[in-house]
Amino acid sequence: MTDRFSGQTVLVTGGAQGLGRAMVSRFAAEGASVHVADRNAVALAAMSAELCTELPGKIVPKVLDVSDSDQVTDWIDQSVATEGKIDVLINNAGIIRDNRVEKISDDDWDAVIAVNLNAAFYGVRAALPHMREMGYGRILSFSSMSWRGNFGQANYVAAKAGIVGLTRTVALEGAKFGITANAIAPGLIETPMLASMNGSARDKLVKKVPLAHTGAPEDIAAAAAFLASPEARYITGVVLDVDGGLGIGSSIR
Ligand SMILES: NC(=O)c1ccc[n+]([C@@H]2O[C@H](COP(=O)([O-])OP(=O)(O)OC[C@H]3O[C@@H](n4cnc5c(N)ncnc54)[C@H](O)[C@@H]3O)[C@@H](O)[C@H]2O)c1
Repeated sequence: MTDRFSGQTVLVTGGAQGLGRAMVSRFAAEGASVHVADRNAVALAAMSAELCTELPGKIVPKVLDVSDSDQVTDWIDQSVATEGKIDVLINNAGIIRDNRVEKISDDDWDAVIAVNLNAAFYGVRAALPHMREMGYGRILSFSSMSWRGNFGQANYVAAKAGIVGLTRTVALEGAKFGITANAIAPGLIETPMLASMNGSARDKLVKKVPLAHTGAPEDIAAAAAFLASPEARYITGVVLDVDGGLGIGSSIR
């Protein structure tokens, strides 16, 4: 591992498990002070106890609900007060509540939009003034390969497509301040979220992946670390598919 993020402050939402945890591990391995927000207090404490002993960076956990605007704003302001700055914001927390459109309740619509989309907006809005002041920032938000449309996921797809629009707009507004904004659209990655999917639906999907297997959380962490690094300075407003080629669509041969 390099020390690319030594001296940098990286904020990650939903970092207690899954992709978030892999990113916390990667950024801390590369020397960052990583502030991690998650609503799952038990998993958050376990993650931070396991990772902070073995990695050179620092891990600062915070239990909060990212769908609450005030909690997100306070967390970002407090992290900046402690570290003096924020270099990287990663809007990763997400949930699914799948159903066909006519069966999605108001609650299931609102909850999915709140965690997957509203939370990213709250994070970006709170982080931007601090990044602008420094003349530097990297914002990464989690979309999904399904942002293009997916059966049984209207709420999730609407949120993940919203992430694309938010990202492209923040890229324009942040550009002259040295701030980039990009999105990652994962395919089938081995996390508790994927494990919650119906087994046979999952197997059918895996057969469609050109690279012929699911991805590991570390595959996402590697892409995130590149996009969040100073080296990615000329990349902004993109949606990076990390999906083994699944987003290419079907081949006629
Ligand atoms: N795993 C995949 O295959 C996949 C594919 C496409 C997109 N994604 C996206 O990647 C991101 C991470 O997914 P994952 O698979 O690691 O999910 P996960 O369910 O394994 O982990 C999500 C984390 O977010 C936290 N979280 C959920 N709601 C929260 C809230 N209101 N406040 C604070 N924390 C909250 C959870 O406690 C958990 O630690 C999500 O945005 C997801 O939509 C994942």
